[in-house]
Amino acid sequence: MEKYVIKGGTPLDGEVTIAGAKNAALGILAAAILTDDECIIENVPYVEDTKVLLRAIEALGATVKYIDLHTVSICGKTIDKDNLCVDDEYIRKIRASYYLLGSMLGKFKYAQVALPGGCDIGLRPIDQHIKGFEALGAKVDIVSGGKVVAKADNLIGRHIYMDVVTVGATINIMMAAVLAEGKTTIENAAKEPHIVDVANFLNSMGANIKGAGTDVIRIRGVQRLVGTEYSIIPDQIEAGTFMTMAVATKGNILIKNVIPKHMEAISSKLSEIGATVIEYDDSIRVMADGRMKSTQIKTLPYPGFPTDMQPQMATTLALSSGNSIITESIFENRFKYVNELARMGARIKVEGNSAIITGVEGYTGANLVAPDLRAGAALVIAALAAEGISTIDDIKYILRGYEDFDGKIRALGGQIEIVDNERDEQKFKLRVG
Ligand code: EPZ
Repeated sequence: MEKYVIKGGTPLDGEVTIAGAKNAALGILAAAILTDDECIIENVPYVEDTKVLLRAIEALGATVKYIDLHTVSICGKTIDKDNLCVDDEYIRKIRASYYLLGSMLGKFKYAQVALPGGCDIGLRPIDQHIKGFEALGAKVDIVSGGKVVAKADNLIGRHIYMDVVTVGATINIMMAAVLAEGKTTIENAAKEPHIVDVANFLNSMGANIKGAGTDVIRIRGVQRLVGTEYSIIPDQIEAGTFMTMAVATKGNILIKNVIPKHMEAISSKLSEIGATVIEYDDSIRVMADGRMKSTQIKTLPYPGFPTDMQPQMATTLALSSGNSIITESIFENRFKYVNELARMGARIKVEGNSAIITGVEGYTGANLVAPDLRAGAALVIAALAAEGISTIDDIKYILRGYEDFDGKIRALGGQIEIVDNERDEQKFKLRVG
């Protein structure tokens, strides 16, 4: 089983280029089947989640081609209308295959998709997705084997109020509504940058969506959508991960290909605790030396502090002086990494949906297990900051959302390798001393 082996203690220094946003790409790849024409999508991150979703789209009968590692051509014209069922093997691997519910329902008025899998960070129901589809006139059932079946004679635009601010449901309802008759309003919509990116992609195909990025999205149904060429925005969370990596290792990293506006919540918190954050047009430099200060954070929907940066920030604050508090308001079970960090010397107490952090001088290396995608990235940060050697098992979670993570870290001077046997692990340990 592949794992990371890491020798910590080296301040990371240099430049890193951020890939396309995974959580925008997953919605956009699914939305591409809303037209029979070819869509060319650039800046697709080459990560497990996008590879798995593309395999699910190809299994539906669509024509999928990699033009290069980060550019994909999708043509939905060849989708078999008698096989609008997303096979368990794919969706159970990633949560976002459920975006095919919205796009297949929107295009074919029928979709059958197994209930989503993905990281275990909470209950993650899909009641708001179903509420939106039913409001548009679909009949949605959960049939044997945990499959969701959505079908409609016709989809009619409606005013839909979201009981919860939800990224997935906002994107899914947008896709189901773009070809519906009349006007759809999504009230209390999510405002993340990736919502805007999916809306911009759909508009480039001829959709009529206004207000994405605000809490009221207005969609006027159109007759058909056409092919497009589109480039995905940079990944806000990958960028934030490298920003906290710079601070935790007391390094100096220029993070390139970012949209600084998307990073505001992270940049301001890192500045607040004493890091130096310098914004340029499409890059951000983050530097830190000496011990950071403590702070309080509550994760919130965009533009609040993102939940996907909560583990990485907690790992950084656990090295600050003083006491910090992080409250996780989005998911119920997103502190599983705390026990792993405790084995490195961190002092964090979880009470309900808050983590009470007492800063320590440093971490010592340990053998760790990644509990989920972002917690896994946080453990890599901790291992890079720690004295000594760490290993991290279950890196499959990390590979779902970070492209060439170990390669990018090595280019910054980090000592990290992927090994899958004891012999290679020993060779690494001998080499780094
Ligand atoms: C997306 O998940 C992201 N995943 C998550 O990123 C991210 O943490 C999350 O949005 C919040 O920003 C993808 O985009 C593939 P939600 P999603 O629907 O859509 C509740 C990562 O690390 N809810 O915004 O599943 C839900 O339980 C991943 O890249 C309902 O109650 O998140 C949660 O408490 C992890 N009913 C809250 O809303 C619903 O029908 C936010 O969930 C849907 C959601």
